[in-house]
Amino acid sequence: MQPTALLGVLLLPVLANAQYQMVKEYVGDNFFNDWTFYNNFDNLTNGNAFFVSSKQANQDQLAFVNGAGNAIMKVDNSSKLNPGDKRNTVRISTSDRFTVGSLWIADILHIPYGCSVWPAWWSSAITWPQGGEIDTLEGVNQVTMSHMALHTEPGCMQSNSTIESSTLVNTTDCSTLVNNNEGCTVTNPGASYGPAFAAAGGGVFVTEFASKGISIWFFPRSSIPQALQGNVSSIDTSTLGTPVANWPEDGCNINQFFQPQELVFDITLCGDFAGNSGIFQQTCTGICYDDWVLGPPSNYDQAYFEVQYVRVYGTPGRVTVLSAASRSARAAAAFTVLASMVAAVMLAW
Ligand SMILES: *[C@@H]1O[C@H](CO)[C@@H](O)[C@H](O)[C@H]1NC(C)=O
Ligand SMILES: *[C@@H]1O[C@H](CO)[C@@H](O)[C@H](O)[C@H]1NC(C)=O
Ligand SMILES: *[C@@H]1O[C@H](CO)[C@@H](O)[C@H](O)[C@H]1NC(C)=O
Ligand SMILES: *[C@@H]1O[C@H](CO)[C@@H](O)[C@H](O)[C@H]1NC(C)=O
Ligand SMILES: *[C@@H]1O[C@H](CO)[C@@H](O)[C@H](O)[C@H]1NC(C)=O
Repeated sequence: MQPTALLGVLLLPVLANAQYQMVKEYVGDNFFNDWTFYNNFDNLTNGNAFFVSSKQANQDQLAFVNGAGNAIMKVDNSSKLNPGDKRNTVRISTSDRFTVGSLWIADILHIPYGCSVWPAWWSSAITWPQGGEIDTLEGVNQVTMSHMALHTEPGCMQSNSTIESSTLVNTTDCSTLVNNNEGCTVTNPGASYGPAFAAAGGGVFVTEFASKGISIWFFPRSSIPQALQGNVSSIDTSTLGTPVANWPEDGCNINQFFQPQELVFDITLCGDFAGNSGIFQQTCTGICYDDWVLGPPSNYDQAYFEVQYVRVYGTPGRVTVLSAASRSARAAAAFTVLASMVAAVMLAW
């Protein structure tokens, strides 16, 4: 398996000249292969949530592939809780990690929303904040626009040469130590969250993780470019137009502040962001935990992700996927892997 994966990467330049070439897809009945379910309460952001195991997610239908072939990840909307209880929900992260020189696309039909709900589609290095975090999509409660952000060690800024409209930029310092770790945040204008996003049929989010900078594009369903329609094997970002957010290298040395990223979907409840009383009161009433989490389970009928696919692309000629298998095999079998890789390449020629 390992030599095959390496072979695929090594052969890419022979197959195409594209800027990025597909290295991994999460789609259909196989969507949930190769993700890790957190299986612990939210000890990361103090949410009133328990992120279930893969087994329980499957048993309770909190993570499953629906009749349309789309992945659903949701909050439990059938259990009445007692005071002190946490509500079950899902947090999954990819087993593989993706290096600088990668790009990932998520085609999403529905983003979780509602009072107390805090979903995100994002990525993080294993060592945080040293290895950085990229938030492609995040929102809380009843906001109508999602936002995007980077979180890093001090020294990474969104520079003045950023190319999206500066009116969308909320904060420019990516350091986790300033602004209560708000990150360098950009608002995604238009129907990028909530009922309007779902009513428009959702859309496609593209995240480029490159040395020259990090960029995010968002296309509502009605304006997805041809270059992103269907199962595209390669992507040339110069065809995608102006990103909705970008953090160029002149403000942030990507190779210094970012390490390989694992991709994450999660939905938590209340916690440091959605449950912050000032933020909660902006779009909701009452007390986040008492009135919403402990309230009627139907509060969570809209608290689900519906995802058509996630596809990850790498730079041709470079190994951009650090697979879980290769990480565990690396120490024990470095020479074996190298030998079979050489053998596989020789066979291919
Ligand atoms: C959260 O819980 C998991 C599982 O017990 C543990 O491995 C991890 O270190 C905890 N993380 C934090 C930040 O406490
Ligand atoms: C960016 O713009 C701000 C505000 O105009 C200015 O104070 C700052 O010097 C600029 N920084 C750079 C690196 O050009
Ligand atoms: C961020 O900026 C957008 C666009 O100007 C604005 O609508 C939004 O309220 C701001 N968000 C915050 C948290 O300041
Ligand atoms: C998408 O295309 C790749 C080849 O580019 C192929 O390996 C894969 O099976 C396709 N996926 C689906 C769901 O058809
Ligand atoms: C939970 O929400 C889904 C829609 O997300 C709905 O189809 C289902 O009926 C709800 N479950 C209950 C028990 O109300």
